[in-house]
Amino acid sequence: MDKIIVKGGNTLSGEVKISSAKNSVLPIIAASILSGDKCIIENAPMLEDVFVISDVLRSVSADIDIDKNSNKVIIDTSDICDCEPCSELVKKLRASFLIMGPMISRFGKFRISLPGGCNIGTRPIELHLKGLNALGAEVSVGHGYVEARARKLIGNKIYLDFPSVGATENIMMAAVMAQGETVIENAAEEPEIEDLAEFLNSMGANVTGAGTDTIRIVGVKKLKGTVHKPIYDRIEAGTFMVAAAITRSKIKIVGINEDHMKPIIAKLTEMGVSIEVQGQSLVVDGTGVLKPIDIKTMPYPGFPTDMQAQMMGLLSLVKGTSIITETIFENRFMHAPEMKRMGANIKIDGRSAIIEGADRLTGCEVKSTDLRAGAALILCGLSAVGSTEVTDVYHIDRGYVNIERKLQGLGANIYRKCI
Ligand code: EPZ
Repeated sequence: MDKIIVKGGNTLSGEVKISSAKNSVLPIIAASILSGDKCIIENAPMLEDVFVISDVLRSVSADIDIDKNSNKVIIDTSDICDCEPCSELVKKLRASFLIMGPMISRFGKFRISLPGGCNIGTRPIELHLKGLNALGAEVSVGHGYVEARARKLIGNKIYLDFPSVGATENIMMAAVMAQGETVIENAAEEPEIEDLAEFLNSMGANVTGAGTDTIRIVGVKKLKGTVHKPIYDRIEAGTFMVAAAITRSKIKIVGINEDHMKPIIAKLTEMGVSIEVQGQSLVVDGTGVLKPIDIKTMPYPGFPTDMQAQMMGLLSLVKGTSIITETIFENRFMHAPEMKRMGANIKIDGRSAIIEGADRLTGCEVKSTDLRAGAALILCGLSAVGSTEVTDVYHIDRGYVNIERKLQGLGANIYRKCI
């Protein structure tokens, strides 16, 4: 397995281009099933997760061409069958479960292996199943599989106990060709939900209210193929904003939507990072004095849980006491012990992490425990004294396109050791 080696101490400069959002492209690829036609995703991020979900669709006879030169994913779902997707692949990528809604909508029956939990939490799916059931599907879970049958999907009003991103997406996709109107209340408001709605509407669906807590879907008879360019990845952009702050540098980040960055801009500004929005770019200046802050992760538009590890790395180097409370996932502090190996002073107390800023971190071998934890450890390495070896980088490759090359382009001393 590859390692990423970072020699700390360089300041960064120049500009970095942000890729399209992983968490937009994955549900959009799943949604292409609904068209039974050809869909083209432009400027798609060439990520491991995109390759895996494409293989999941290929396992149910979709025809997918991934052109790494033009960053295009061309999906033809005209020959999709109602067979069960490869369970090995489904277990590899939790987001594979997002094909449940489209497959039920298309075929009226579907069987898929339960997505595993992962390092950050048990990742239950009861809200997905409750939504499909409310639309008229008979859902059963047993022997590690979910089965659903629906003679006809009929629109309904669905209240989500928690604004789950995945459940909102699965229900939206199941409802777009259901009979009548569906209203999802307490829906997730993430920008990726809005992007999915835009994709569905470009196929001929009738979705309104995406991006708010109430989404209305009026069922239509048929959907057709489309061409779509996903939104930028707000979490990748936030990760590079923290890279500037942790190395006390000034850099330009190209490819952002200011609205989507608001919670991240607010908290970094509160710390003393100066951020200037220039259209679809940001100039981030982390050269000033930074102060400790408290952070609580919340559903959008609150502070994103996917930025929690990166902020913990930064706050480990800010004098004073900071507190991070993780309210979304029950086990998303696994990066803390790795940062402590580098000299960070972090105390975990249930859902909270109390961080005392250290003068410096020292490089050593650390392990990526999940996608964002791995990225956060690279950020710590950028500032640490000496060399940091980040292992298990396959986690990082799931959600970041060429992270080491993008950081090299900003002047970081970082390279990948292929093993
Ligand atoms: C999406 O995961 C993202 N993944 C995650 O990004 C992100 O952290 C998460 O939303 C929260 O923003 C993709 O979009 C592919 P949820 P998802 O359903 O849909 C509980 C990354 O790093 N829940 O909103 O799985 C669940 O246990 C990844 O890019 C239920 O209780 O997240 C969790 O505590 C990590 N029952 C909370 O909701 C359910 O039926 C948030 O889960 C579903 C979820």
